[in-house]
Amino acid sequence: ELFRPINSYYDFENIKMVPEGDLITRNLSDMDWMYQDQEAVQELLKEDPQIYRYYNVDIPEEEGHLQHCISIINPGKVGNEYNMTKGHFHEIKGTAEIYYTIQGEGMLFMQSVTDGEPEFEALEMKKGTLSYVPPYWAHRTINTGEEPLAFIGIYPGEAGHVYGEIEAKGFMKLLIEKDGEPTIIDNPNYK
Ligand code: 6PG
Ligand code: NI
Repeated sequence: ELFRPINSYYDFENIKMVPEGDLITRNLSDMDWMYQDQEAVQELLKEDPQIYRYYNVDIPEEEGHLQHCISIINPGKVGNEYNMTKGHFHEIKGTAEIYYTIQGEGMLFMQSVTDGEPEFEALEMKKGTLSYVPPYWAHRTINTGEEPLAFIGIYPGEAGHVYGEIEAKGFMKLLIEKDGEPTIIDNPNYK
């Protein structure tokens, strides 16, 4: 069946996509074990703040299509660690992704998922940044700023998502605030 052309629109004032499409929200309780400072986690869980949300445009998950979505990470920290996404790699590891930052500032953490030793890369994100996540790189985004970090993601329809591995092992690096600056450190709990 022929898929019809469609528009989506980012409403900067209300920080949301219109139409909303498939809205997925992640509160702290959805990823509480992923942060280092478990005392800070317990304190924040009383309110269970929303860490991020993303609006998926409803596109067939098929080869030839381009999935696209807008992700918004709220500003904030858990202890000294900045708000971040859970992170994933694509089920079809050889599929890339493009991120276009439209608001805020942050970092894009990537970790290779080939058969060899994992390698790490980080890129800065700020309004106007077009970031390329090549095939075979897991990706996580982190808000280091005072306002929401919003970016568009575009990736192949068939890509799929794998979360379990990063849920269990974490990323090899963490982004914390140190002396008022975002600082990349080794993750002491990386397995
Ligand atoms: C994707 C994109 C992006 C991502 C969100 C939320 O492949 O769909 O990378 O839309 O899903 O930014 O991040 P998590 O999927 O890691 O929760
Ligand atoms: Ni992705």
